[in-house]
Amino acid sequence: MKSTFRCSSNIALVKYWGKKTEGIQLPANPSISFTLKDLYTETTVSVLGSNTTGHPEFEFLFEGLPKPSFIPKLTDFFSRIFHDYSILKAFRLQINTSNNFPHGTGIASSASGFGALACCLAELEEMHTGKPVSVEQISKTARLGSGSACRSMYEAPAIWGSHPLVQGSSDEFAIPFQGNIHAAFANMMDAVLIVDAGEKSVSSTVGHGLLKGNPYAPARYGEATLHLAELCTSLETGNMTDFIRIVEQEALQLHAMMMLSNPYFILMRPATLSVIEAVWAFRKERDVPVMFTLDAGANVHLLFPEAHYQQVKNFIDDRLLSFCQNKQYFCSAIGSAPIRIQ
Ligand code: DP6
Repeated sequence: MKSTFRCSSNIALVKYWGKKTEGIQLPANPSISFTLKDLYTETTVSVLGSNTTGHPEFEFLFEGLPKPSFIPKLTDFFSRIFHDYSILKAFRLQINTSNNFPHGTGIASSASGFGALACCLAELEEMHTGKPVSVEQISKTARLGSGSACRSMYEAPAIWGSHPLVQGSSDEFAIPFQGNIHAAFANMMDAVLIVDAGEKSVSSTVGHGLLKGNPYAPARYGEATLHLAELCTSLETGNMTDFIRIVEQEALQLHAMMMLSNPYFILMRPATLSVIEAVWAFRKERDVPVMFTLDAGANVHLLFPEAHYQQVKNFIDDRLLSFCQNKQYFCSAIGSAPIRIQ
């Protein structure tokens, strides 16, 4: 028995930063993301034999080779889901995974990685028990690996975290955006500029934890809740000005929270700020709807409608490449749910 899935990464527009509870990834505020179609992980999970130990047994290969540094996170993950998956009790599993983006570029692979793994486990569970596993259950399983992974399940923008104005929203799993997306946002793209390919000095998991007891955290959670409602409205009305304001404000609030933490830290690099200033200047000069967002690192994501691809590409090549390590950037279309590979 084996199962193979491709699952894309995602970039948050309204950021998840802070957890209600440590460990099991219940978010302190709701978030919404775009799935990055062309940046993905492919994972195969195969059954190796029976499990007679009463605890999860697995072997992990990254691009065909053992990767001991991933084992602790996977061990925590499997112990959290052990009682929900009879395949884990019955079998010893092998996980073989690879990304289509180069390792060591600062592009996070935990969302696409746990997303793909959750899809494979669900398919094996269905094969073993004959009972279907819902997409909400798969999203919940992915969340127990890494919070943001639960949003990689949908072609539509994904909303995770309960919000009073979003019907069906939940802290447990992500749901697809229910409204009609305006033509202005129908074909968005993301260019990920690799400003710093190195390992982050503070991991997301540690960063989330620093919001506990942070006096600014309640105000931040309020802002995210408001931004999510405003962003959903702009997706439906096509209000690009509001959309850009919210997306950029969210990126800067995320990094402001890092600076307001104790201990404080900064993940932006000087080149991150240079790119942001260049984006603002370009938008003013050329009236092109291109905006930046950031995840928990120095790299800059540029979001823009596909219709402006050539203008944005020229802008990157002429004015931004000097800020990118080894002149590297990766372009992706938005959308794509996980794909089962035969
Ligand atoms: C800044 O999902 O990586 O990218 O749940 O601890 O695994 P864990 O954290 P993770 O945090 C992502 C934080 C973010 C914002 C976001 O994706 O919403």
